[in-house]
Amino acid sequence: MRKTARFGVSMEQDLLQSFDKLLKKIGYSSRSEAVRDLVRKRLVKEEWEDTYKEVVGVITLVYDHELRELTESLTSIQHHFYKQIISTAHIHLDKHNCLEVLIVKGKSAKIKNIAEKLISTRGVKHGRLTTTTTGKKLA
Ligand code: NI
Repeated sequence: MRKTARFGVSMEQDLLQSFDKLLKKIGYSSRSEAVRDLVRKRLVKEEWEDTYKEVVGVITLVYDHELRELTESLTSIQHHFYKQIISTAHIHLDKHNCLEVLIVKGKSAKIKNIAEKLISTRGVKHGRLTTTTTGKKLA
């Protein structure tokens, strides 16, 4: 079990009221958990800013599979980065549209590069990189 430390925080009343209102809206049961989440979120952001840190991400792509060249380009990029792409799922959303989800792990700069390459491929209707963490350094 990890040791827990307590600390006091001073803050303007208006700011605290806004924070409490937000916590209630989101559904946090305590300020402590909300503050812990904020700290972890900032630490994960920091991991991504360090080019050489190993991070985890999820890339989502929505595209029309009938564009033959597009499907070939996406496959080619994915084969090139096979070491970073851990898993993929392909869902046929309707007769034309596909959703592809890629779970990626590696150095943050490389992961960003893979996401940019895929998302900027002509014909991709929507793409997004969700940045998360290996969780190793987070309590
Ligand atoms: Ni499909």
